[in-house]
Amino acid sequence: MTDPKWWQSGVIYQVYPRSFQDTNGDGIGDLPGIERRLDHLVALGVDAVWISPIYPSPMVDFGYDVADYTGVHPMFGTMADFESLLAAAHDRGLRLLLDFVPNHSSNQHPWFLESRSSRDNPKRDWYIWRDPAPDGGPPNNWISDFGGSAWEWDAATGQYYYHAMLVEQPDLNWRNPGLRAAMLDAMRFWFDKGVDGFRVDILWHMIKAADFPDNPANPDWRPGMADMNKVLQLHSTDQPEVFAIAAEMRALADSYRATGRERVLIGEIYLPVERLMAYYGKDGEGVHLPFNFQLIDAYWDARALHKMIADYEKALPPGGWPNWVLGNHDRPRIATRVGEAQARVAAMLLLTLRGTPTLYYGDELGLADVAIPSDKVQDPRELREPGLGFGRDPVRTPMPWDGSAEAGFTTGTPWLPLNPDWPSRNVAAEAADRGSMLALHGDLLRLRRMHPALSIGSVRLLQAENDVLAYERAHAGERIAVVLNLGGEARPLPPLVGDFHAILSTCHARQGGSDALLAPNEGLILLAQD
Ligand code: NOJ
Ligand code: CA
Repeated sequence: MTDPKWWQSGVIYQVYPRSFQDTNGDGIGDLPGIERRLDHLVALGVDAVWISPIYPSPMVDFGYDVADYTGVHPMFGTMADFESLLAAAHDRGLRLLLDFVPNHSSNQHPWFLESRSSRDNPKRDWYIWRDPAPDGGPPNNWISDFGGSAWEWDAATGQYYYHAMLVEQPDLNWRNPGLRAAMLDAMRFWFDKGVDGFRVDILWHMIKAADFPDNPANPDWRPGMADMNKVLQLHSTDQPEVFAIAAEMRALADSYRATGRERVLIGEIYLPVERLMAYYGKDGEGVHLPFNFQLIDAYWDARALHKMIADYEKALPPGGWPNWVLGNHDRPRIATRVGEAQARVAAMLLLTLRGTPTLYYGDELGLADVAIPSDKVQDPRELREPGLGFGRDPVRTPMPWDGSAEAGFTTGTPWLPLNPDWPSRNVAAEAADRGSMLALHGDLLRLRRMHPALSIGSVRLLQAENDVLAYERAHAGERIAVVLNLGGEARPLPPLVGDFHAILSTCHARQGGSDALLAPNEGLILLAQD
């Protein structure tokens, strides 16, 4: 590859704004807080920041219920605060991405208030309204991702509205041209301000089968599984008409090329690889990066990871640029899933695979999930289906910055408890420790910048057995081998063709580079001398 775009060679960092940095003592992170901490991101060495929603919202789903697509929630700050943050990010060479939530709005959005006011309101069709089934019940068997029927009865107008998520998140009707235009205008509003792109929430949900047939029952559903999994979301998601919407958004983003700043769209899509690929578009007219979440659910085994990487690489359409994600605000943290030692190996994997990596705030410290006492639970996912392990509060806890009160996150009471390990696991402490997870991330990100083979080079899988996953990255005559020990026993290094020497190990204590053995849980990057 020559002349890569910033979103191809760069690394994206996700900020959950409630939990990054509070500046006014209300215990909730805010935009001035993100601005105050931008230098952490610069020191770390990432290229772009994606901020989860900051719009006005009743916060039933913590901002994913948007009441105004072109405003800023006063809790996060003002529009001036946003503009200041954007300018400060750009001054430091960082790109800034917002989270666009097109599938649904809040039920407090003025559009929905109008829509539900009467059947003949001009905005009625901006949402999805249906008559009851002949028995008076919901129009079909579709289930909300938060459990229960996805249809809510509105007695005043005698119809049901559809909500793929919470009752408070009515789905928007993207088949309506007026709604479509209004939503694209909202994107334009932020592009005009200079935002560098969007992460697009649940893109694959945006269009539903026009005649709303029942979804098939899921034969594999068992008690203990989420209610939503009782049916297969065959007709309620991933409909072919969604690609035209993605293409419209892409054309809008591309229309800003003339400004000299390339804008990017990243689609949140949880689908098997073969269906995910369609979101690149037939000729690349879809989103730039359909999120590849496979590492989040990956079985942590050399062979399984090898197959996942190979299958994904093979499935990519011509020109389709890969991407990898280890964690986000909806899924258990990597340190909890694979343990502290392997989380270091996972970081090396994420930052050396071919494709754009997205890092989740706190993972650079090795932060683990935090057990939330039941009286402190905030997440509607946990409140609606308690005790099954779906709650997302544990992965949304405040960023620990230093050893001062409340880890420097707030002068008040944090909205969610800090991880009790914050006195030692915080940015300041790890910055002073060459062996820390933070130092490892810094080293990995510096190597990526120094060696284009690691960001834009080709990938060739070398070994996937005996707990060792190894691959070679190559670009413009430079060759780099990545060798990862996914187990807790020492393992021989795989045979490498040529003279390689180690340039980074996940085990800080390793001396020199000629050992023929990988230590337990060791990941190693080696540079070819030829
Ligand atoms: C996906 C978001 O990541 C999640 O946090 C949210 O609850 C749903 N979409 C609904 O918007
Ligand atoms: Ca605050």
